[in-house]
Amino acid sequence: MEQTTEYAPVFTGDNRKRLDEVLARYPAKRAGLLAALWMVQEQHGWVSDEAMAETADVLGLTPSYIKGVVTFYTMYHQHPVGKTFVQVCTTTPCNICGAEEVVEAFLEHTGCGDLGATSPDGKFTVIEVECLGACGFATPVMMNEDVIENVTPEKVPDLVKQYS
Ligand code: FES
Repeated sequence: MEQTTEYAPVFTGDNRKRLDEVLARYPAKRAGLLAALWMVQEQHGWVSDEAMAETADVLGLTPSYIKGVVTFYTMYHQHPVGKTFVQVCTTTPCNICGAEEVVEAFLEHTGCGDLGATSPDGKFTVIEVECLGACGFATPVMMNEDVIENVTPEKVPDLVKQYS
C-alpha cells in the first residue's frame, strides 16, 4: 500500500508572525514572496507544489506566479536535495580555468554521480550554476550559504569531508 505524507503548512504560529513582520515592511504583499519562499525552504528543505499553493494563498497570488519565481531562482529547490547543496560556477571565465574538472571531482567524491542527483547517503546534491560574481577567484563554489573561492579538483576531497 502506498503511503502518502500529509503536507505540513508553513505559515502557522511563529512562522506566520515572522511572515507578518516581513509583510509589514512593504506596501504590497507580493514584495514578501522571496522571504516567504525562503521560510518554506527552511522548514521543508524544498518548495513543493503544495507549498507553492499555500504561499499563493497567503500572499493573494496565483500558484503559477509562485512557480514562475521558484523556477527562476536556483536558490529554491523544486525537489528534495542533500543536506549540503553544492553549486559550482561553470560560466565561461570559470570554465576556461577548469570548473568542469571541479564539477567532476564533486560528483565523484560526494557519490552523487550526476548533476542534480542526491548522493545515496543524502548528504550532497551538486549542480552547475551561472556566474556567482567571483570571476577573479575561479573556481568559486557555494556549499549551502558558504562561498568558497579558488576551488580546484585537488581541494574537493577535503571540502566533501568538511561538509559531511
Ligand atoms: S564566471 Fe564564474 S564566478 Fe563569474
